[in-house]
Amino acid sequence: MIEVLEKIIDGKLIAEKVISEIKQELLGKSVKPGLALILVGNNPSSELYVKMKSRKCAELGYHSVVNRQPETIAEADLLELIRGYNNDPSIHGILIQLPLPKSINEMNVLEAVDYRKDVDGFHPVNAGRLMIGEKCFVPATPAGIVEMLRRFDVKTSGKNVVVLGRSNIVGKPIANILLQKNKNANATVTVCHSGTENLTEYTKKADVIIAAIGKANFLKGNMIKEGAVIIDVGINRVESPESKNGYKTVGDVDFNDCYPKVSLITPVPGGVGPMTIAMLMKNTLDSALGRIYGS
Ligand SMILES: NC(=O)c1ccc[n+]([C@@H]2O[C@H](COP(=O)([O-])OP(=O)(O)OC[C@H]3O[C@@H](n4cnc5c(N)ncnc54)[C@H](OP(=O)(O)O)[C@@H]3O)[C@@H](O)[C@H]2O)c1
Repeated sequence: MIEVLEKIIDGKLIAEKVISEIKQELLGKSVKPGLALILVGNNPSSELYVKMKSRKCAELGYHSVVNRQPETIAEADLLELIRGYNNDPSIHGILIQLPLPKSINEMNVLEAVDYRKDVDGFHPVNAGRLMIGEKCFVPATPAGIVEMLRRFDVKTSGKNVVVLGRSNIVGKPIANILLQKNKNANATVTVCHSGTENLTEYTKKADVIIAAIGKANFLKGNMIKEGAVIIDVGINRVESPESKNGYKTVGDVDFNDCYPKVSLITPVPGGVGPMTIAMLMKNTLDSALGRIYGS
């Protein structure tokens, strides 16, 4: 169990532990996990994420391929490229960096990935298996949240968990995970979204709040109850004249306003963010070792 420093769930620290556990596991093994990262267009955030992921692969000694394609690539060509990696035995994980250009149908692309190499967990087979509680690739961000809760001994069984946001990559999967009937989950889960009326009525009753809405400093201290555990997934760039580059990154939670009332909280940056890459690496390792669907 991790020592709790003040009330902060330090995602950076847990991510480092996950990475060092992967290194440990790979010691003496001949398998070399392989990850294909497909980047379409030149969205600066996507460029940055792909760079961070391939750097982490290098640190772990994984085989990684960054395949850059122009924004103008035809969908059929992209699908063909994915099929190539599906059939490449040196590749155990295929990741398509989102978002894709509007001309390309995202679902067609995600479905083209062999679900046994879908380390992002976005293929409908993995999404479906997650929902019914079967072994599958769990999307990296929700997997990271679960890992943080587990390592900080946050019990969810019988608790009220409120998830803010219903995206396919964070809100829905984390809600489904925590809803499962097992001792590490078993929560009463409420999912709120932009159509939720009187949202504070839900957040005030929550023992655990997972905020993933993409609205800077949205959750305030007067919206939560005393002792709540807050997981802040949001990554929002806001102007900050005192910062060197004129902006800073904040979460969906007003950290300073909530801090006095919480029992635990993740900071932004340094909370969920670092966990996402660590869990992607873990999923790639699991794939290479045939732990999810066999080899
Ligand atoms: N740390 C990480 O590694 C990581 C990973 C993924 C995402 N993120 C960050 O997490 C945030 C959410 O991303 P996402 O991709 O999950 O979300 P998304 O696809 O942008 O969806 C946002 C969700 O929030 C809901 N929402 C928006 N405004 C709301 C409001 N005022 N009250 C209640 N619900 C509201 C939306 O409702 P509707 O469905 O009704 O539109 C939607 O379900 C973003 O800041 C993103 O950058 C971080």
